Amino acid sequence: MDDIEAKIIENRNIVSNYFLLKLKLSKPMDTIRPGQFAMLKVPDGDVFLRRPFSIYDYCKGTVSIVYRVVGKGTESLSRAEKNKKIFVLGPLGNGFTVTKRDEYVIITGGIGVAGVHLLIKSLKKKARIFYGCSNKEELKVVEDILRYNPAISTLDGSRGFKGDVVALFRKEEKTFSGKDVEIFACGPDGMIKSIREAVEKLGTPCQVLVEERMACGLGLCFGCVVKTVDKKEPYKRACKEGPVFDLWQIYH
Ligand SMILES: Cc1cc2nc3c(=O)[nH]c(=O)nc-3n(C[C@H](O)[C@H](O)[C@H](O)COP(=O)(O)OP(=O)(O)OC[C@H]3O[C@@H](n4cnc5c(N)ncnc54)[C@H](O)[C@@H]3O)c2cc1C
Ligand code: FES
Repeated sequence: MDDIEAKIIENRNIVSNYFLLKLKLSKPMDTIRPGQFAMLKVPDGDVFLRRPFSIYDYCKGTVSIVYRVVGKGTESLSRAEKNKKIFVLGPLGNGFTVTKRDEYVIITGGIGVAGVHLLIKSLKKKARIFYGCSNKEELKVVEDILRYNPAISTLDGSRGFKGDVVALFRKEEKTFSGKDVEIFACGPDGMIKSIREAVEKLGTPCQVLVEERMACGLGLCFGCVVKTVDKKEPYKRACKEGPVFDLWQIYH
């Protein structure tokens, strides 16, 4: 892990408040595992703390981040222009662990796709992907994974199944019965809770990437703790022991 100076080569509005940021690093990053993240120092503005973002993609010294504007930091980032310098601390945290299974399932929604994008790419067509968003316009965010034939849900019904992505997964759930399946998920809290309810009876193995608020990203401030079932040390740091956790080890 290193703090690397980088230059913005693209910072493009994909659709609504979703952006694609491409950064040319001044030196290569250490090997990245799907699910790891970087802390970005937002250029300009008065945003003091770095912000955590999943590494969406990495190729030949270029890191891609897909982000949604939600507040001061991301708003300021969306205004950063080409050639602007930016510091990238990463790769950080523990990513997803892939062990041999009959089938892999990836469930994600909205900007959560940024957290599982590298995993989707590494599993190629071996995973069944369920992606949920608000409307068909938002599918522009996932254009490059459409070749993996994700099952799609939209809240307004403008494309695919009408409703939320976990409801769509539940419709297909029986096709996995009797198989050794593992689920990987990243998305809003409500989505993670629904997945838990859906697979609680079977206790299906499931790894989730949690997007807790972070301050240091380095395991120093304990500002990102997640409560787990571990009796001895219940509080785990999302930036250090996570951000990927076993769903059955955490409270949601
Ligand atoms: C490991 C990890 C990976 C992430 N990857 C991505 C990514 O790839 N793309 C992306 O767009 N975002 C990602 N996030 C979330 C991103 O870090 C926050 O959206 C960002 O820090 C918000 O900064 P801000 O200054 O714009 O918002 P703030 O001004 O800090 O907050 C604005 C609003 O957003 C809420 N908020 C801020 N951070 C979070 C959070 N982590 N979870 C829920 N609500 C929050 C605040 O409560 C507030 O209501 C990730 C977070 C983590 C921990
Ligand atoms: S953000 Fe500081 S310990 Fe995790």
